[in-house]
Amino acid sequence: MANDDANIVVNGIGTVGKRVAHAVKKQDDMDLYGVADVAPTADLRSNLEGPLEGTRLFCSVPDKVEDLEEAGFKVEDDLPSLLDTGKIDLVVDATPPEIDEKNKEVYEEKGVKAIFQGGADASIAPVSFNALANYGEAGDVDWVRVVSCNTTSLTRTLWSLDSNIGVEKAIGNLVRRGGDPPQDSRGPINSIVPVTHIPSHHGPDVQEIMPDLNITTLAVKVPTTLSHLHMINADLSESVSREDVLRIFEKTPRIRLFEAEQGYDSTAKIIERFRDQRLRYDMPEVAVWEETVEVEDNTAYWIHQVHQESIIVPENIDAIRAMLNLADRDESIRKTNDNLGIE
Ligand SMILES: NC(=O)c1ccc[n+]([C@@H]2O[C@H](COP(=O)([O-])OP(=O)(O)OC[C@H]3O[C@@H](n4cnc5c(N)ncnc54)[C@H](OP(=O)(O)O)[C@@H]3O)[C@@H](O)[C@H]2O)c1
Repeated sequence: MANDDANIVVNGIGTVGKRVAHAVKKQDDMDLYGVADVAPTADLRSNLEGPLEGTRLFCSVPDKVEDLEEAGFKVEDDLPSLLDTGKIDLVVDATPPEIDEKNKEVYEEKGVKAIFQGGADASIAPVSFNALANYGEAGDVDWVRVVSCNTTSLTRTLWSLDSNIGVEKAIGNLVRRGGDPPQDSRGPINSIVPVTHIPSHHGPDVQEIMPDLNITTLAVKVPTTLSHLHMINADLSESVSREDVLRIFEKTPRIRLFEAEQGYDSTAKIIERFRDQRLRYDMPEVAVWEETVEVEDNTAYWIHQVHQESIIVPENIDAIRAMLNLADRDESIRKTNDNLGIE
């Protein structure tokens, strides 16, 4: 561990926080100084005894230290006291919405930069972030919000077509998972739940990053835990071929084509590939089904899959580099992808 590397703390070791903390550990230009949480959850225990073994634990709020210690956790200190030492360059906050707002007051008082997640209101930070689309905007600010899993996938695919061809108007139909695999509090369910206003919040969220994009989104929730699926059509400014769109997707980092013909014909089959290949079956890439890419009268159509739990992990790592001026966009994306085994 080089002393001059950036010191990072991840606050909130749940679905997103545990993955981001592990990803920080895998980089060579930043150090995971520690993680913080308030409660002796199974996630915290499993990760400190697994992928985060040896990582310092801090208690996010001073009055919860005893709870963690009584449950057998070794707590170094409370997070506000750690931030007082001046050792920490940046906090990645992965706590639930509203708690992140309260935490921001602490970071602000201590003068430490922070990254928030997509569940936070866009107003929590001056920049809503996607590495491909607006990496440079994070260099001058103390607060950044990495947008949600759905918004990240829409931004990646639409930005790739917009920057290479131009997108006049896009419509996204979003089929969202009912809950993450461990979220049994959300189930069992047997229903399809529509968002009963149009647009759903996802389109306006993409516009936080790409303000000039004309996009409307419709969304439903279904009883699956593995991933989301989006069906999109985008009116392009120029006449292009299906092969042109495929080539653009193919060359864009973190978009990956899958062929249903090879057996990858459902969300479960694609996830199964990653169950065989990766820790926690994480798939931070957007998976586009090759056969669904079509172009008709300047309108491009495709269907893609989003692994909600991991797609935002590399974006958090790039946001750290962008905010601390550790690398330019392309170098950061390349480093993150290499270190995390992402294509
Ligand atoms: N899950 C996803 O698929 C996903 C995808 C993209 C973005 N996001 C966004 O990421 C953020 C975090 O979501 P998540 O799914 O990771 O939530 P999560 O699994 O519930 O994890 C949040 C963690 O923060 C802890 N926590 C609660 N209060 C805290 C406090 N005061 N200080 C520090 N830690 C505290 C929670 O502990 P307890 O368990 O004890 O409450 C839990 O360990 C949200 O904004 C969400 O919208 C989630």
